[in-house]
Amino acid sequence: MKKVKNIEEIPGVGPTTAEKLRDAGYTSVEAIAVASPMELAAAAEIGEGVAAKIINAARELADVGGFETGDVIFERRKEIGKLTTCSSALDNLLGGGLETQAITEFYGEFGSGKTQIAHQLAVNVQLPREQGGLEGSAIMIDTENTFRPERIKQMAEALDLDPKEVLRNIHVARAYNSNHQMLLIEKAQELADKLRDTDRPVRLLIIDSVTAHFRAEYPGRSSLVDRQQKINKHLHDALRFAYLNNAAVMVTNQVHARPDAFFGDPTKPIGGHVLGHTVTYRIYLRKSKGEKRIARLVDSPNLPEAEVVFSVKPEGIRD
Ligand SMILES: Nc1ncnc2c1ncn2[C@@H]1O[C@H](COP(=O)(O)OP(=O)(O)OP(=O)(O)O)[C@@H](O)[C@H]1O
Ligand SMILES: [Mg+2]
Repeated sequence: MKKVKNIEEIPGVGPTTAEKLRDAGYTSVEAIAVASPMELAAAAEIGEGVAAKIINAARELADVGGFETGDVIFERRKEIGKLTTCSSALDNLLGGGLETQAITEFYGEFGSGKTQIAHQLAVNVQLPREQGGLEGSAIMIDTENTFRPERIKQMAEALDLDPKEVLRNIHVARAYNSNHQMLLIEKAQELADKLRDTDRPVRLLIIDSVTAHFRAEYPGRSSLVDRQQKINKHLHDALRFAYLNNAAVMVTNQVHARPDAFFGDPTKPIGGHVLGHTVTYRIYLRKSKGEKRIARLVDSPNLPEAEVVFSVKPEGIRD
């Protein structure tokens, strides 16, 4: 890992601008390097021309942007880690587990296991690599107030981990509305910057649910475009987080299984195509008998479409 640079090191960024940028969530040279001039100008109250210059300088400093040669991409992709779900069937479906530097979406109806998987991953990311973990910590953006420390404790004990220690490495923030939710990714980046050089860098970002607030706040067809644009930006921020931190990003998305639906596919996730293009892996979850759940991998760029069965047990996600 290369040394973190202060944003004051970017030519053109004085103390006042630096403070404004930090307040707006641009806490690292990398974050500025991948910003748009319009975004940055608004955040730091500077002209777009100045913002563009700062972005270019940040790109040189951070060594991002422009074209990359294949060998550089190859090197970065070599760092991609895989995070186990504790179900070998589900891991196999994903080609070995959730990938870092990518977004994995779990969508399905209520009770299909999305939040249970989120809890399991927050525990598993702390496991040693030889056990399928990433030796890191987790950030969870909880929009539905469904985070349960007692459940984490139960899952941690089942894996012979110290539950107190495990809970200490899960950073939870409740998002009260969609704007707050978007802001929390910036806060997540600040926290990730802080933990980067510790023995528990952030390796997992969970957004459960990614769409609920947007759906509630932008109802109906007339606000669809607005909603899609907001979700789109949110997911790009999440993907940027995944790249900057070599982290896995897990998002959940509720769909209603409505056999009475008049038109369209009732199992289409909310967010539709916008979510589809930014998300790297999408898993559709269905309830089956008792603790059994069915997971189907949909639209993957490099894995075959397939279906597996896993279980939600008292000890957590298992085969
Ligand atoms: N401690 C536990 N032991 C065993 N199974 C559990 C336990 N806690 C939850 N479950 C199972 O998980 C189900 C709830 O799943 P979960 O909360 O992940 O659904 P979800 O997909 O997040 O739903 P929603 O869309 O409403 O958020 C319960 O119905 C139960 O079957
Ligand atoms: Mg849930």
